[in-house]
Amino acid sequence: MNASPIAELDLLLGNALSEISAAPNSAVVEQLRIALLGRQGTVTAQLKLIGAQPPELRKEFGAAVNHVRDQLTDALLDRSVEIKEEEQQAQITAEKVDVTLPGRGRHKGSLHPVSRTLRRIEKIFTRAGFDVAHGPEIEDDFHNFEALNIPKNHPARAMHDTFYVSDETVLRTHTSPVQIRYLETHTPPVAVIAPGRVYRCDSDVTHTPMFHQVEGLAVDSDISFADLKGVLVFFLEEFFERELPVRFRPSFFPFTEPSAEVDMGCVFCDGGGCRICGHSGWIEVLGCGMVHTEVFRQVGIDNELFTGYAFGLGIERLAMLRYGVDDLRLFFENEVSFLRQFA
Ligand code: PHE
Repeated sequence: MNASPIAELDLLLGNALSEISAAPNSAVVEQLRIALLGRQGTVTAQLKLIGAQPPELRKEFGAAVNHVRDQLTDALLDRSVEIKEEEQQAQITAEKVDVTLPGRGRHKGSLHPVSRTLRRIEKIFTRAGFDVAHGPEIEDDFHNFEALNIPKNHPARAMHDTFYVSDETVLRTHTSPVQIRYLETHTPPVAVIAPGRVYRCDSDVTHTPMFHQVEGLAVDSDISFADLKGVLVFFLEEFFERELPVRFRPSFFPFTEPSAEVDMGCVFCDGGGCRICGHSGWIEVLGCGMVHTEVFRQVGIDNELFTGYAFGLGIERLAMLRYGVDDLRLFFENEVSFLRQFA
């Protein structure tokens, strides 16, 4: 059974209006406009049918179709204005800034653990009467080797893994050249430490191509090995803030005679033996000895009148032992999470 054309139009209008008011966004509104009022649209099709109506119906049907078209045109426009407003509102809400939220807080920087350790070392030695001196990191062969009794072709040169800048210039492989520079410009009695960067062409878990040393030197008319031992035991006990067993093992350096390496009781296992100390209970911390007569000769100091001691220690090594850091590379990677622990 066919409903009257007018009733069909009412049905079309009703359906279309509810679809329009349910349209969720502008794209759907546009789709509906095309489907209803576009060239192939359902309402357009009805407009084309006006002429096909029987004459007595034509006027009424025509008015009804035009009414439907006008109603739908208005409804589409209203809905798209509404949607624009909704979308704008949503955007405003999404972009809202809560100005009452508390700030994120700032992180203060802190001294690098190597700097902290160096300051600590300097404090202890200056309290014991030592001056602090510095020397160049780019050093000549004479100061880095020759004057320290390491002539060309001396086998000790092979131990140094030297970075050469040129035939006669190196990145200093230790802070010992500062001993020479200091004695060239100061007359004994002297007591000095010389901290700084040193370079060796060596890189693995326990070696980095750049690391830090502190050199120590004391020269006077009556300095003995007992003074050396006294100052080093004092230093280690101050540095680690506890009494420590310390032992001196005979060793060799071309610029000291006699020479020794100094071990201290392992701070991790209290001498019981652990992974860190290789289960020996002892950890090697520095090299030292009495200044060699050849070194005095090189800088014009009378061996009959003066004696002296020298020592060299690694700052990273002491920092690792003091702070319980088990990987040397952490000092150079500069991970903020690592560095923050020293704030
Ligand atoms: N210069 C030596 C090194 O780098 C350490 C040292 C310094 C030894 C002073 C004795 C005296 O290994």
